Amino acid sequence: MTQDELKTLVGQAALLYVEPGSIVGVGTGSTVNKFIDALAGMKDQIAGAVSSSTASTARLQALGIKVFDATEVDELAVYIDGADEIDHAGYMIKGGGAALTREKIVAAQSRKFVCIADESKLVKTLGAFPVPVEVIPMATGRITRQFAALGGVAALRLKDGVPLVTDNGQHILDVTGLKIIDPLGFESQVNQWPGVVTVGVFAFQKADVCLLGAPGGVKTMLF
Ligand code: 5RP
Repeated sequence: MTQDELKTLVGQAALLYVEPGSIVGVGTGSTVNKFIDALAGMKDQIAGAVSSSTASTARLQALGIKVFDATEVDELAVYIDGADEIDHAGYMIKGGGAALTREKIVAAQSRKFVCIADESKLVKTLGAFPVPVEVIPMATGRITRQFAALGGVAALRLKDGVPLVTDNGQHILDVTGLKIIDPLGFESQVNQWPGVVTVGVFAFQKADVCLLGAPGGVKTMLF
């Protein structure tokens, strides 16, 4: 199976976690796009979605799924999203699609986080994938130096040759060279640095379930 087919498989499998009549928390990325496409098939059975990005909002609305603002909803039963890396405890690196801040917000609002990923995302230790960190632009120099002190190299993410601007009007640093053996400690530490909006380590908002696509089918991991 191709990676794209594995993404389709887990996107469809995630429908099992959608409660009829509910509002669904929806992440961002190519795997989630497969989920959104599958969700369209049951759009008349759900009340709608809370989205984590303008890109997912546009896709949901184009398929006729009502999108609620996060502030209109107290709690969501489930949040479905992909990951750039997930370890065997359900800790993740996210933000490859630059949507990490809204993803963490919607995840925090949800009772259950269901991660959908192909098997290439499963790792022993987080950190081979560059850790995305959303930052206030004026703080990028100092935060880059703070990562250097930890052994990391932070690079400003560019789009079309200029700094990428997130849905929240901020920039992204991608940090390589880190081996994250204590995801909770790392997330706490970086969260304290002035100018950090969101660090792309999801330890406090880890997955409860991972639907992992492999050639043999979908493997369900519970954490
Ligand atoms: C976006 C994310 C995505 O979930 C992550 O990048 C995985 O994306 P894909 O499903 O395209 O591999 O965190 O900010």
